[in-house]
Amino acid sequence: MKVGIITISDRASKGIYEDESGKKIEEIVNKSGWKVKKYSIIPDDYDKIRDEILKMCDDLKLDLVLTTGGTGLTKRDVTPEATISVIDRRIYGMEIAMMVYSLKHTSKAMLSRAVAGIRGKTLVINLPGNPKAIEEILPELVEAISHAVEKIKE
Ligand code: MTE
Repeated sequence: MKVGIITISDRASKGIYEDESGKKIEEIVNKSGWKVKKYSIIPDDYDKIRDEILKMCDDLKLDLVLTTGGTGLTKRDVTPEATISVIDRRIYGMEIAMMVYSLKHTSKAMLSRAVAGIRGKTLVINLPGNPKAIEEILPELVEAISHAVEKIKE
């Protein structure tokens, strides 16, 4: 499984704080026996988010793109909109599953608008920007992601 990680954060991209959530994703990806092929840190900018997802799907032809951050309610949070603009089909079940797992931990989970979908043969999943959220969500998705990627390739 070839994986791309995109950390979407104005502050992390300027080096104001450490990109802990991207590192947390990398750790879980490695533990799952998958390979991180590209790791980018970009600001909360609609066009930059679109471009990075497109590059990972169309040029690098990765199996899975995991984004972290920008799923919330501030004006700068545009990850879901940028993702929807590049995916062919949404996977609502994955979005609901992420919400269900997250609500077990915090009622604030309902503020995330994270999207999951397919572009070509790449699975794209938004995760919230908090490393704790990554730990709470991503391990629960590993089995379904493996199956989804197999199905997408058929
Ligand atoms: N989901 C889980 N599992 N754990 C969390 O701590 N934080 C929530 C939510 N989802 C959280 C979570 C909070 S506080 C916010 S504001 C939203 O994700 C959006 O976060 P983002 O804008 O960093 O993507």
